[in-house]
Amino acid sequence: MSTEALSIEQLEELASRAREEVAAASNEDQLNRAAAKALGPEGWLSRATRTIGSLPREERPRFGQAVNRLKKELEDLVKQKREELRRRREMARSYLDPTISGDLPLVGRLHPITQTLEEMVQIFVTMGFDVWEGPEAELDYYNFEALNIPEHHPARGEVDTFVLAPGMLLRTHTSPVQIRAMEELGGRLLRGEVDRIQIISPGRVYRRDRPDRTHLPMFHQVEGLMVGEGISFADLRGVLAEFARLLFGQGTRVRLRPDYFPFVEPGAEVAISCPFCGGGGCRVCKQSGWIEILGAGMVHPEVLRKVEISPERYSGFAFGVGVERVAQILYQVDDARRFVSGNFEFLSQFVG
Ligand code: PHE
Repeated sequence: MSTEALSIEQLEELASRAREEVAAASNEDQLNRAAAKALGPEGWLSRATRTIGSLPREERPRFGQAVNRLKKELEDLVKQKREELRRRREMARSYLDPTISGDLPLVGRLHPITQTLEEMVQIFVTMGFDVWEGPEAELDYYNFEALNIPEHHPARGEVDTFVLAPGMLLRTHTSPVQIRAMEELGGRLLRGEVDRIQIISPGRVYRRDRPDRTHLPMFHQVEGLMVGEGISFADLRGVLAEFARLLFGQGTRVRLRPDYFPFVEPGAEVAISCPFCGGGGCRVCKQSGWIEILGAGMVHPEVLRKVEISPERYSGFAFGVGVERVAQILYQVDDARRFVSGNFEFLSQFVG
């Protein structure tokens, strides 16, 4: 290391080079190197300090002052620069570049069955029906007995039931909610506090069926019930016709044919005119022009009696419609199992 004293001019010269280097530093490393060269233990300012003793006495104060002034100035410059670099780094981190193409985020959507169910519910709510929900694990009494299906009734053999415990099962239809609703609201009807019971009940139902194109062991129904004085078969027909028009399109007609359900009399099987060919016959309606979608009828007097509503004074209708069936028609899905396949490509077609 040189111990030769530097002149003040040399100091000024080194200082102006140091100012340039500090200013030019574009990252922390370059700044550190420039700072060390001037201010570090082996830097020229330290070196100059060490040579003060070799100077003629009268020159020492001026030289010392010059060293101190430059040292202070360069320290400040380095500090400023360090701060500037830090701010720049931070800005780079938070800067959003909208021109960089990104990945499309995966957005969730409602399952097609949920979409269909909500659409159906909305239609009935618009017509003044209240929404009731009942338990899926149901008492035998509500699922069968109160619906006029006593223990050895042949209708019990028609549905394979998941039994949970003696007297308790997974409901095979949403009709038990009719009973629960009439039990709870019947008193208000009899006291004249309301002029009718008018509810729908959407939800899951279970049957021990082998899955195929039209059967799933768990599926959804929407039950409807209207009970009051003078409720007639014509009211049932009107409600179903309006429902069909709103769900399948204005030109849709309904056709009612006699059918048997133990809890209604008379009972009907309800079909809609095919929304795809208008009734002329096509692949969807299997050339018949009609598609069966639900069961319905006038609430059986026995059922009314069970919930202590007098069939002499009151009457009502009920219907039950399968949601998967409706969704299969609306979206032309030939195999109901696709709804529960979890196939993302299939499901992502239903933009709801
Ligand atoms: N509960 C019947 C079924 O699951 C449908 C239905 C409801 C029929 C109400 C008539 C009245 O098939």
